[in-house]
Parts: sequence; C-alpha cells; structure tokens
Amino acid sequence: MTVVTTLMVVIAMFLGAPAVRDAAEVVHRVVPMYDARSRALVLAGDTLARPPVLENRSRDPHTMEVSLTAKRARLSLLPGVETDVFAYNGSIPGPTLEVREGDRVIVHFRNELPEETTVHWHGLHIPWSMDGSPFHPIPAGAQVDFTFTIPAGTAGTYWYHPHALHRAQSQLARGLYGAIIVRAADDPLSSVPEKLLVLNDNRFRADGSIDLAEPQSPQGRIDFENGREGDVLFVNGQIVPAIRLRPGETQRWRVVNASAARVYRLALPGVEILHVGSDGGLFERPVPVDEILVANSERVELLVRGTGTPGSRTLLQDLPYDRYIPQTRPADWEQTRELLSVQYTDEPPASPAAIPATLRHVEPLDTTHVATTRVMVLTQGFINNRAMDMNRVDEHGSLGTTEIWEIDNLVGMDHPFHLHGFRFQVLDRNGVPEPYRSWKDTVNVPEHESVRIVVRFEDYAGKWMFHCHILEHEENGMMGILEIR
Ligand code: C2O
Ligand code: CU
Ligand code: CU
Repeated sequence: MTVVTTLMVVIAMFLGAPAVRDAAEVVHRVVPMYDARSRALVLAGDTLARPPVLENRSRDPHTMEVSLTAKRARLSLLPGVETDVFAYNGSIPGPTLEVREGDRVIVHFRNELPEETTVHWHGLHIPWSMDGSPFHPIPAGAQVDFTFTIPAGTAGTYWYHPHALHRAQSQLARGLYGAIIVRAADDPLSSVPEKLLVLNDNRFRADGSIDLAEPQSPQGRIDFENGREGDVLFVNGQIVPAIRLRPGETQRWRVVNASAARVYRLALPGVEILHVGSDGGLFERPVPVDEILVANSERVELLVRGTGTPGSRTLLQDLPYDRYIPQTRPADWEQTRELLSVQYTDEPPASPAAIPATLRHVEPLDTTHVATTRVMVLTQGFINNRAMDMNRVDEHGSLGTTEIWEIDNLVGMDHPFHLHGFRFQVLDRNGVPEPYRSWKDTVNVPEHESVRIVVRFEDYAGKWMFHCHILEHEENGMMGILEIR
C-alpha cells in the first residue's frame, strides 16, 4: 500500500470510529501524518497549492476582464470530510485577481448565493460605487459588473471579501475570500520566486459542517467578544502544506491575513526574514525581522532566505499572541500553531540573491498642511461612543485635503482599524515615530495604545466605511461612515 492509500484508510477508520466526536479532532490526528509524508511528497513538488488565477478574457493588453460567481459548493476542507460552503468560482480561497498598475478591470459578478452579498476590494483605491461596501448590496440571484482602474504606484497585495450588512462574518466563515495581486512594471523583486500565502482559520462541527455559534450560546458570546477564531488553520485552504526551499535560496512571500479575528504572529526558525512590504506594497528598504505580526486583513511581503542545511526541515509557525481580555482569553492561547512545512532540498546551497538596497520611493504625505485632525476612540463595540448606523454620517471630509487621524484604543484588547478607499501612512505609535514609511489600509491598535495616521483624499467622493476589521466587532457596531465631498 502506498503512503497515501494508508493515510486514506486511516482517515476512514477515524471517521468510522464512534470515538471521534469532532471533525477537528480528526484533523489534529491527521496533521502529524501529513508531516510524516511531506518529506516524500516535497521531493516531487510543493504540496502548497497556488489558488487559481482569474482568467482574462479581454484581448486589450491593458484590460483585465474576468468572471466571478459566489455560490454554494461542497468541498473537502478537512481530509476525508465534505463541507457545505460558499465559494467564489468553486474554490477556497477564491481565485486570485492578478492585475498590473494602470489596468482597467472588469469583473462580471454573479450572486448565486441564497442571500445578498457584496464584493469589497479591500485596499484598492477605486470609486465609491465600486467599493462593494454595505451601501451597495447585491441581492440573491443578481448580477453586477465592477469596473475600475488600478492606480499607478499601488502595486501590492490586496484581497476581496463580502461586506453586506451583518453578513461579512458568516460569508467569510463559509469560504468567501480571495487574494488580489497588483504588479508594477518596474518591480525590483520580479526575479525572486514568489509564493502567495492566504491565511484563514475555521471551526467545524462533528459532521464536518462549519461551526457558526448561536449568538446566545457560550461560544457565541466568546465569538462576540474575541471575534470568531477557529482551531483549524489554513494556508491557501490547506492544512500544513509543504514547500521546498533550496538551501540559501530566497523566496518572496505575499501573506494575506484573511481571518475574521485571528492575528498571526509569524515565525520561521532557521530562516532569515526580510520584511519588504505591507498592505500597499513595498517599503523603501528591507527590514530584517525575527517574527512578524499580521493583524486581520493586513498583508505583508517577506523575503525568506533558507539558512538551513540540505535535507532539513522547518515550520512556519503562528506564535501565541495575547490580544484578548482576560475574561474571554482562550484556554489554549499559548499554543504555537503550525501553518506551513518548509523542506530544504538536498541541492547544494544557492548563492544569495542580490536584493536591491532601495526597493522604491515611498513619498511621505505632507503633514504641514492638515485640514483636520480627527480622534477615533475605540471601545468594545463602539467608535467614539457610537454604534454603527447606516443612516448617519459620522465624519465629513473634503476632496483635496490631508487629515491626521488619532486612533485611541481605550480597552484591553487589540482592534485592527481599517479605512476604506484611501491608503494612509502611520506617523507614530504612542508618540514614537514609525521607523519607516509604508502604505497601509489597516493598522492594528494594540490594547490601550494610540496610533496616528495621515491620509490624503485626492479623489473619489462618497461614503466610506472605517471599522475594526475583527468582523464581529465591525458587525456589532465598531464601524462608522466618512463622507468625502
Ligand atoms: Cu476588508 Cu470594510 O473591509
Ligand atoms: Cu476595506
Ligand atoms: Cu475590534
């Protein structure tokens, strides 16, 4: 019997055995076997799958015309179990939208779900009518075309997800999320082999169905407070997949946190990591790091250089990160979790890739002419003591102006703050100037901390959401509306 058949038989035995009450339990038992066989499998190739890429059906070299359908599917997310999901074009994660700066994008979207949805292009600077926010719900059965142009200078990693009022969390949990890659013509790292890692977690019932807790249940109350976390961690929809790394080889990893609430503290023992970019693309210069925090909806670009010996193995880990209040801190929060297995090949070490000392110029936003300084006070469930109301505009701003926002987190839990439509730069955290400039659309504001950002409203009037990106917090009031005229 081959390793794979043995594995399948063992899984079948687990599933048939009445002792197993919990599908997630099956996963925990199966994962070590994945690890055991990863050595053999990686010799043939990575087991990490690349999400499908949306196929361009335009002949125009500067147009990306694609079709995207959200609909029900039955997929195997856990080994040997099928789960009813919602999926974009039948896959989880959904297909990647890969475009270039300056491209005109046309997305023919069909909502074949039994409920309304939207598609929000998280982080893209596009007209308000295309934002896919709760202002533009797409009813069940409806079809809409999104058309927008990707601005110059915005090469980076983004993502898309549903954002209909009170439905973002459950639809994301059912499988609706996908990555967006915007490429620049003059990408300084274009010769570095690249990998996309879309991170997500989920929780399952014994029958393999997605476990969305009843709001009034004990778990429902914990999810309400912490945001919904799952005990099964996925990279591109897979559990601890493996990749090969030649000793000395450098790879560029684009990492997307597509989890509703889990904050990842990534570490990769025995691998040198250069942090080279965040939400809105590359930094000016690489920054060496030992570990990196990726809050909900944030993205990071990393250059990883394998310093291990031929044939050895390491793991991409999610280290414990205490973002919780004591009352609802999960009992197992101190557990280190495994995301990805990295197998060094037996090849002789590669000579180090030449990484340019300067990646690109990140123009600082001018803070000497600021129209307004706004203060956003975050408490549990509220921004500036108000809960979200679609019929109320919370902040009024003007086109052609620059603003500073001070985001004060008064409570004992982190809140990742996100602004739609406009990228910003972090000025300082607790008064300490940010050591380097980058384009962001989400910034984690740790418990009892304060962050100042600067943002410029060059174009696109509309009603833009700002919110905590823990989706339960967003849905339960931690969202407001900025109207730009
Ligand atoms: Cu990821 Cu309101 O957004
Ligand atoms: Cu957004
Ligand atoms: Cu929050």
